[in-house]
Amino acid sequence: MSVAVAERPAVASQPRQALRPVISFHGVTKVYPSGTVALRDVDLAIHQGDFCFLVGASGAGKSTLVRLLIRDETTSTGRIFVEGNEISRMPHRKLPKLRRKFGIVFQDYKLLSNRTVAQNVAFAMQVTRPGQRHLREKVEEVLWIVGLEDKLDMFPEQLSGGEQQRVAIARALVHRPRIFIADEPTGNLDPDTSWGIVQLLLQINHRGTTVLMATHNREVVDLVRRRVIAIEGGRVIRDEAEGSYLREGEATL
Ligand SMILES: Nc1ncnc2c1ncn2[C@@H]1O[C@H](COP(=O)(O)OP(=O)(O)OP(=O)(O)O)[C@@H](O)[C@H]1O
Ligand SMILES: [Mg+2]
Repeated sequence: MSVAVAERPAVASQPRQALRPVISFHGVTKVYPSGTVALRDVDLAIHQGDFCFLVGASGAGKSTLVRLLIRDETTSTGRIFVEGNEISRMPHRKLPKLRRKFGIVFQDYKLLSNRTVAQNVAFAMQVTRPGQRHLREKVEEVLWIVGLEDKLDMFPEQLSGGEQQRVAIARALVHRPRIFIADEPTGNLDPDTSWGIVQLLLQINHRGTTVLMATHNREVVDLVRRRVIAIEGGRVIRDEAEGSYLREGEATL
C-alpha cells in the first residue's frame, strides 16, 4: 500500500527534553484481584519524541502496562510518572486532564457504526473538549493527516479495516496528544495495510509526539528498527535502542 501521508510535510519537532523522561515506571508491580501477577518490578524511562515498540508473547503484560499508564488500572506497588506527575496516586478528579495527554488506539477500532467518519472524529473531540470552536476544520485537518480527507462522509462499514484504523488514529489525534499509545493496532490487518499504519505512526512521531506501540508484528519491528522493550512473564527482559523482535538466537518470544 502506498502511504500518501509519508510525503506530507512535518511540522517542526518539539525540542527533546533529555533530562526528564516523559514517562517513567519505578518498580511497578501489578497483581490483579484474581492473583495474577501481570507486571513485576518494571523500571522504564521513555523520553519526549521516542518511538518504542512493546513486544512479548500473549499474556506477557503489554496491555496491562498500557492500562496502568492511562490509569485505567492502578499499580499494586511502585510509581508511574507522566510529565513529572505521579499518576499512580493521582486523584480521580485529575484523570480527565491526564488522559488528554494521550491519544490511544486499540486493535478493535471501536468506531460508532451509525456515524460518519467526520462525526466519529468530531464526537471524540466534543467529549474531550466540549464547546471547541472550529470543530469541522480540526476534524478535516486530522483526517487529512491520516489520508482520509476524501472519506469524510462515509460510514465505517463502507471502509476497509486499514481505513477504519486510520479513522481511529485520527480520532485519537484530534485533541493533539503529546503521547500516542497503540495497543496492537495492526492485529486485524494484512501485512501491507499494517505497514501503512506503522508508517502513519512514524509520521506522527516525526511531528514530535512520543509513540508507544504494543505489537506482535515481527516483520514491522524488524524493518523499522526502533527502540524495542520486550516483556516476558511481566518483566522487562530487554530494552534496546534499535532492537529487533527477537533477541539474536532466540527462536520464539
Ligand atoms: N482484568 C484482568 N483481571 C485478571 N487478570 C488479567 C486481567 N487483564 C489481564 N490479566 C492477566 O494478566 C496477564 C497479562 O495480560 P495482558 O493483557 O497485559 O497481556 P498482553 O501482553 O497484552 O497479551 P496479548 O498479547 O494477548 O494482548 C495475563 O496473564 C492475563 O490473563
Ligand atoms: Mg494485550
